[in-house]
Amino acid sequence: MQNYSLADTYIKPLDPAEHELALETKNLKVFYGDHEAIHGASLQFERYKITALIGASGSGKSTFLRSLNRMNDLVDKARVTGEILYRGLDINSDKIDVYEMRRHIGMVFQRPNPFAKSIYDNITFAPRRFGEKNKKVLDEMVETSLKQAALWDQVKDDLNQSGLALSGGQQQRLCIARAIAMKPDILLLDEPASALDPISTSQVEDTLLALKDHYTIIIVTHNMQQAARISDYTSFFYSGTAIEFDETRKIFTRPQIQATEDYVSGHFG
Ligand SMILES: Nc1ncnc2c1ncn2[C@@H]1O[C@H](COP(=O)(O)OP(=O)(O)O)[C@@H](O)[C@H]1O
Ligand SMILES: [Mg+2]
Repeated sequence: MQNYSLADTYIKPLDPAEHELALETKNLKVFYGDHEAIHGASLQFERYKITALIGASGSGKSTFLRSLNRMNDLVDKARVTGEILYRGLDINSDKIDVYEMRRHIGMVFQRPNPFAKSIYDNITFAPRRFGEKNKKVLDEMVETSLKQAALWDQVKDDLNQSGLALSGGQQQRLCIARAIAMKPDILLLDEPASALDPISTSQVEDTLLALKDHYTIIIVTHNMQQAARISDYTSFFYSGTAIEFDETRKIFTRPQIQATEDYVSGHFG
């Protein structure tokens, strides 16, 4: 059986009309054993926008997000059904090369998790594994991604220091730089600032706002002010269902569903 290669689709010139959507799910369900954790989510993610996924703890935000680049493949007894469409391909198909797909749909986790390696090696690790050997290309990649992650000025004089020696906020921006070094289309972030102090949080938020010129961003956050500050669209998850999806300002000012209203006004969660 022939494997689909996302690399083939990657070089296709972008037709803005065709690619207005960066990603779309259709009737996406996620099961852990017999437990259905996501009950058929059909969401559309617009290109070069930030979409926030909000909702109480346990409502399925992380489960949904992880399915978008098949991180649930790694979770014991997890099963995903339905479609996840990326450039016309269903990434949930058995034929997809998962490692190749993750170059296009990257992820940043809740806790900063730099490798116990230098800053330089953190960023070049994956590109090298994918065969990039040219020192000049790698140097440029390090500089560009650190600049985009708003970390370059702080670390440029010592790229050989360990990523673990950085502050929490810097580590998280290093993880963002590491993710964007692969030039993904889409960046998935699961509560990327929840382990950070307010100053680092605001630096990460500024970084994400600057990145959306080049990337489509989907971010889980339990921080509603954060969703309101940075996102264009918001989806409210309630008990495994994405019950409301709209422009962020509408979700926060005129939600259509009572449960959303209760949540954003602080009545539960
Ligand atoms: N690895 C797992 N195994 C079994 N159940 C899980 C696992 N991860 C999450 N769940 C369950 O799925 C539901 C959604 O969890 P989660 O996606 O982590 O929610 P959120 O990110 O919104 O807090 C919860 O009922 C949770 O207990
Ligand atoms: Mg979560």
